[in-house]
This record gives sequence, C-alpha cells and structure tokens, in this order.
Amino acid sequence: MKAQSLSAVFAGFFFLPGAVAHPGMEAVLEQLKAQDCCDSTELLGDLLYLHPTDLTPVGRLIEGILTGTTGGESDEPNNSVPELGSTACQADTCCVWQYIVDDIMVYFQDRHGQCTNAARAAIRLGFHDAAGWSKHTGEFGGADGSVVLAPEEAQRRPNAGLQQIIAQMKIWHGKWSSFGISMADLIQVAANTATVSCPLGPRIRTFVGRKDSHIASPEEGLLPSPFDEPDFLIELFRAKTIQPRGLAALLGAHSTSRQRFIDATQFGAPQDSTPGIWDVLFYNQTLGPTPNNVFVMESDKKLAKHPRIHEIWRTFARDQARWNADYAREYVRVSLLGVYNINYLTDCTRVLPRAVRFWK
Ligand code: HEM
Repeated sequence: MKAQSLSAVFAGFFFLPGAVAHPGMEAVLEQLKAQDCCDSTELLGDLLYLHPTDLTPVGRLIEGILTGTTGGESDEPNNSVPELGSTACQADTCCVWQYIVDDIMVYFQDRHGQCTNAARAAIRLGFHDAAGWSKHTGEFGGADGSVVLAPEEAQRRPNAGLQQIIAQMKIWHGKWSSFGISMADLIQVAANTATVSCPLGPRIRTFVGRKDSHIASPEEGLLPSPFDEPDFLIELFRAKTIQPRGLAALLGAHSTSRQRFIDATQFGAPQDSTPGIWDVLFYNQTLGPTPNNVFVMESDKKLAKHPRIHEIWRTFARDQARWNADYAREYVRVSLLGVYNINYLTDCTRVLPRAVRFWK
C-alpha cells in the first residue's frame, strides 16, 4: 500500500462523519502502517516552518523522505567529474565530494571487499554527532561536526572508542578544508560511504551544506547506553523524532559492529557472525540462537523483545530489502537532526560508490 493511500485510510477512519472508534482499530492501523512504510514521519528543522511554495527541489525531496512518500535509497549513477580545482569542478558543489569519497573509500573496504573497523567507526560517528540533539535542545547540537570539533564532546563516555576515527576525520578535513567543506558534512558523507562500502549496505541519499559548530552538544544523556531499559530508549529516540520502527531499523547498524568497552574480556566481539557484511544475521542472532563468539548487547536483546518492536524486528530478520529501505530513510532523518538549512542543502548522492547487492 502506498503512503498516500494509507493516509486516505487514516482520513477515512478519523474523519468520516459518524465513524466510531473500534477497540481494535489502533492495532489495525499500527499493522497497516507497519506493512506500508515507516513510523517516523515528523518534519525537521526549517522544513517545519517553510511554506510549501518556498521549498526548493531538494527541500521537497527531503520532505518526501521524512514524511515517508519517497525512499531514502538511490541508485543515481556515479558519473565522471571535472578535474579537481578546475572552474567546472568549482561550479559543481558535488565535484570535490567525488574526490573525497574516492579518497576515504579505500579505508572502508578490506581486500575481501568487506567493510573494515574504520567503516564501522565512521557509521557510529555519524550517529553520535547527529544524536546530540533532541526536540528539547532547540537549534543546538545535532549533525554539526561538534563530536570532532568540540574536544569536550569527544571525551564523553558514550563516545569511547571513537577517538581513532575522530583523529582520522581531522586529517581528512585538514586535507580537504581548503575546498570549503564542513566537518559536519564530512562526518555524514563518510558514514554513508562506509555504509555502502559494506556488501549489501544501502546507498543512502546524501546531502551536503550543513554548518559546523565548535560548541559541544547541549547536554549529556542524549546518547543511548547499552544498559538503558527499552522504554527509556524508545522515549530517548522519540525525542529525536525517531519512532520504534525507525529505532529497530537503525539498530541494524550493529550488523557491522564489534564491541570493545561493554565487556573488555570480549574485546572486539562482533554483534553477529558477519561484521564485515550489512546482512540481517544481526536481527536473527540477537533473537537467538546466538553463536558463542557473538556478543549481544543487553539493550539490543531487550528491544528485540519489546512489544512495540518485536514484530518489525522479526520482519527485518527475514527481509533485507525491507530493512535497507527503512534504514536508509531513517538514516537520512538522523543525518539531518539539528540542521536548520535543509531547504538549501545539495543532493550529492551520485558521488557514492555503487551498492553491492549480492554477496556469496
Ligand atoms: C539503543 C541504541 C544504541 C545503543 C545502546 C548503542 C550502543 C553501542 C555500543 C555500546 C557500542 C560498542 C562500542 C564499543 O564497545 O566499542 C556500539 C557500537 C556501534 N554502534 Fe551502536 N548503539 C545504539 C544505536 C546505534 C545506532 C542508531 C547506530 C547507527 C545508526 C549505531 C551504530 C553503531 C556501530 C556501527 C557500532 C560499531 C562501532 C565499532 O565497531 O567501532 N548504534 N553501539
């Protein structure tokens, strides 16, 4: 069912004269919605107050992704770009990003074509920069580069393990900053490049034009802990406009993860048997049975069983395409948390490498 026709169903239920609320209706609507698309549909940033006639083509595209009428993945071809430094390259905002992506991509894939420690760290860094925002923090925090630019933020406990990728971001930024790129964009472009560098990973719509901040995100407690209870985590993500299904999709990033600091005795233990591949084994092995060498985080285990998440978790466990579509749409949202010039961003998805859709 398309999102538009789903809205019509909702409209029918709620606005038809004489319509009576049926006790099972909420469950039916939940189910319909789950079959259809996503549950996080709030607008963000400047899109909240701009009049539809003031939207740019990119503003409209992002509005569609956020509200669930447009997908968050794209196969837009990766064409050749003009020579770096040429007038033609300077005239195209995405041109320098092609060179940057080609430069950093080599760090993200090993010789077997699987994604590396640098890739998993870059994916986590993209989330940690953006997630330093909530609806209660106003225009501060979010995808503003502060996880790298504000030393205080980098040192917070939830960011343990990100120091190496933070140092690497500074090196890359130092190399490319004369082309006017922001750290905030570098972090999000790197996260999306890392994701698609994992076999089976989605090619997520990628936008640039974010502004940097050297001020640490407003408060501690915005990032999740593996020891938080599931209801707390669901509310933490809701405050970032991410609903339970969206949270379930994002957690799938642990398909590529290796824990080091939850249990030092199992340093480097992966969260599924194939941490170099963006597959659905994570969803299956979290539910169990779990192989001996796989470490399941308490938060993942509890969320997988939570009544708001269990069904969609099981769906993702058997449907890679469904999960990728949900992840991509939800990650576009993450990458725009705390961004207040969304309407004026540039779509540079075309600079990303192709997705690897099949894996032996
Ligand atoms: C309930 C929410 C979440 C919790 C409690 C959580 C917690 C953690 C923890 C404790 C680690 C291991 C860190 C270490 O020991 O080195 C980790 C790793 C990771 N997380 Fe999450 N996370 C959450 C959500 C997310 C989301 C939404 C994403 C991405 C969109 C993400 C991406 C990753 C990645 C890629 C790694 C692997 C990092 C590496 O191996 O270097 N996580 N997470």
